[in-house]
Amino acid sequence: MAKAKVLYSCSACGATSPKWMGQCGDCGAWNTLSEVAPAAPTGRGGRFGGFAGSAGAQPVQRLAEVSPEDVARTPTGIGEFDRVLGGGLVPGSVVLIGGDPGIGKSTLLLQTLVGMGRDGRALYVTGEESLQQVSLRAHRLGLAASDIRLLSETRVENILATAAKERPEVMVVDSIQTVYTEELQSAPGAVAQVRESAAQLVRHAKQTGVALFLVGHVTKEGTLAGPRVLEHMVDTVLYFEGDAGSRYRLIRAFKNRFGAVNELGVFAMTDRGLREVNNPSAIFLSRHDEPVPGSVVMVTLEGSRPLLVEVQALVDESHLGNPRRISTGLEHNRLAMLLAVLHRHGGVATFDQDVFVNVVGGVRVTETGADLAMVLAMMSSLRNRTLAQDLVVFGEVGLAGEIRPVPSGQERLHEAAKHGFKRAIVPKANAPRQPIEGLQITPVTRLHEALSAVE
Ligand code: TYD
Ligand code: MG
Repeated sequence: MAKAKVLYSCSACGATSPKWMGQCGDCGAWNTLSEVAPAAPTGRGGRFGGFAGSAGAQPVQRLAEVSPEDVARTPTGIGEFDRVLGGGLVPGSVVLIGGDPGIGKSTLLLQTLVGMGRDGRALYVTGEESLQQVSLRAHRLGLAASDIRLLSETRVENILATAAKERPEVMVVDSIQTVYTEELQSAPGAVAQVRESAAQLVRHAKQTGVALFLVGHVTKEGTLAGPRVLEHMVDTVLYFEGDAGSRYRLIRAFKNRFGAVNELGVFAMTDRGLREVNNPSAIFLSRHDEPVPGSVVMVTLEGSRPLLVEVQALVDESHLGNPRRISTGLEHNRLAMLLAVLHRHGGVATFDQDVFVNVVGGVRVTETGADLAMVLAMMSSLRNRTLAQDLVVFGEVGLAGEIRPVPSGQERLHEAAKHGFKRAIVPKANAPRQPIEGLQITPVTRLHEALSAVE
């Protein structure tokens, strides 16, 4: 077969050129040309090949006649993983799993394949590790007796041929950056290679109904190496989060065509693989024997789950002309804003203070419900006065010094009560109509009310 000619395409305007150039001849953009697979003459559509080509044209159906029950979900056998997937794995779906090296992607997927209990119908394609390394891990996990099929291969054409022969129900490609296609000349891991190989694998999944996991590496900048385009091609994007130093691993859904986004799964890495953490609130609270200044517990919402986390602040005299404002796990802009609100509406000046805020346990809280916790933690540290240990807070602080409600106030309060907290300071609109047993609630509408509530 004659080798197809190489083609370069501009990512800005889509113009193609037979040779690489620094500047696109059509639109004049710089460094936008990258290699693409030349369009096949028939069948397989173009670059991003339509999944329903002319070959197997489908009849039109009325929306009302399509029943959602047709989406059968297979539980993975790991509850926390099912939660982020939206209740189980959907046949024909493609799930991209990203995360730092060594965070546990391969471990989780090996455990999942075995946990699904369909060993003989599971195919694990490894491009990074040898079969011996996979076997070593399986031994460590106590899963060595499993019947899952392994394949050490990086050429996508061979992977697809094997998949067509084995007809697995679940397939893992670990990792997409090691896979290459013959159609392109660039090296594995190059943007064009990753994109084209992934497109071929996705097409295969859609055509055969195999549920496909793609492992993707994360670059130093924190994005999936190579193309964000991968995120558009797949159905679900999951990221591993968490400190390398901590033994807890969080998996978050960033995109999910079959479930809610921002759903969080919590795991602990043990000497026998990843173990589910069913009660995550317990692990993100650091238990102090004595109350300490600058620490307050808040209830945040991760997806649909309320989570108790400890927010810490240290406000200390600065010797710098430009005092430091540093936030870990919380929004930096929010911190600057809250300090301004505290000054204007609370009469508290911090221009000569360094301010550090942190969420314990490597969690990231991006919602505005953390505002009130940050403010109270900073006040507590500044005044060197402790807050009650059985106190929880949440609420958004507005620029006018008002305390605004946040979503799911009831769920948050119930979670706090469940963990034995006795007092809560919450936005007035979040206060429950019926009292919650064991929880004394202080509703607040203005910043000064919240500040005086902890005096
Ligand atoms: P791995 O799944 O290989 O990470 P990734 O595929 O994301 O690169 O996980 C490797 C790390 O996990 C490694 O540092 C060792 C640790 N680990 C355990 O602590 N316990 C175990 O049972 C296993 C299998 C790995
Ligand atoms: Mg790996």
